[in-house]
Amino acid sequence: MAQRVVKPKTNLGPGFWPVTAFIAVLSAVMVYLIESMPLPIGLIQAGAPADSIDALFRFLGAVAAVIFNIVVIYTVYFGIVFARPKGAPANTIGVQIHDAPVLEFWWTAIPTILVVILSIYSVKIWADLQNSQGDVLTIEAIGYQYGFQFRYPKLDKPIDEMHLQLNVPTTIHVTSRDVIHGFWIPELRMKADMVPGLINTIRVTPTVPGTYHIICSEFCGVAHSTMRHDVVIESQQNFAKWFARQGGSSGGGGGGTIPIAQGKVDLGQKLFGQKCSACHSVGPFDQKQVGPGLGKIFNDPAHPKLVNNDPVTPQNVAKIIQTGYQGDMGVMPSAQVNQLSNPDIANLVAYLASLSKK
Ligand code: CUA
Repeated sequence: MAQRVVKPKTNLGPGFWPVTAFIAVLSAVMVYLIESMPLPIGLIQAGAPADSIDALFRFLGAVAAVIFNIVVIYTVYFGIVFARPKGAPANTIGVQIHDAPVLEFWWTAIPTILVVILSIYSVKIWADLQNSQGDVLTIEAIGYQYGFQFRYPKLDKPIDEMHLQLNVPTTIHVTSRDVIHGFWIPELRMKADMVPGLINTIRVTPTVPGTYHIICSEFCGVAHSTMRHDVVIESQQNFAKWFARQGGSSGGGGGGTIPIAQGKVDLGQKLFGQKCSACHSVGPFDQKQVGPGLGKIFNDPAHPKLVNNDPVTPQNVAKIIQTGYQGDMGVMPSAQVNQLSNPDIANLVAYLASLSKK
């Protein structure tokens, strides 16, 4: 007589249906909250594509919440209901169930369907972003250690601050001059890698005026955390005024006279700690971090000239801080990028001069 496989009776335990109802209600509440609540980090949506990215993010969150509830709550429930009875031997094994084709079909089919839906949804958003028509403004953004430069058509010089026009679809081509950086504008939910030799394209349409941050989102060196510039979203009139100012000006960074005689050593020392010490030591020239040591800058027979070949004078030191430097020694951002005012520069020069006297 052939041995018959006896199928054990399926036993879901006494509370299975109430627990299932609880999962359904809890999931419904969570999905409602995920879809309706403002994002907890308080990031506004400053333009397209922030809304479609947020919608995708919420959808992913809702799906994840439902799966989480099903997996975790049933696991805990079955763990309790089918725990080894008190007094049963330690090696007691529960009922073994093999071959459940219906179950196996569904636990394969449901995740497959979910993943396909998510893929189609994300690819559709991505395609919309890449194929948006009628871009009016095209900007190049170039990352470097440690800052961003922006090139606008009809401006000869790259500039340090990005301006965007309200309601004007804009294409941004991003790349890098040295290592891989990340170009990220959280309020627009837009992010792209800045890779040397490669141009990545993102498209945005700003809708909320304001000043936001562009943040480097790839670790790119010791001053990675300082790699943060402003992006100004403004009306077309204000943009036109700003643009005319950029076109009219020449010469590097900030500009204007620096009140060197009024520099204060103690203020300069404090600033040095905040703005310079990530890259410069106060030791001799050869004590390099990212840039040379600056402790003997005014009194170093081995280095009678600055790295830009200017003679070492307070005016020239002030100038190199103001305009920044790019050359054999590396890259130092301009005072505008470092957010140093002209009085700040005077204080730094006074501090450096005091070091060289010691
Ligand atoms: Cu550039 Cu981090």
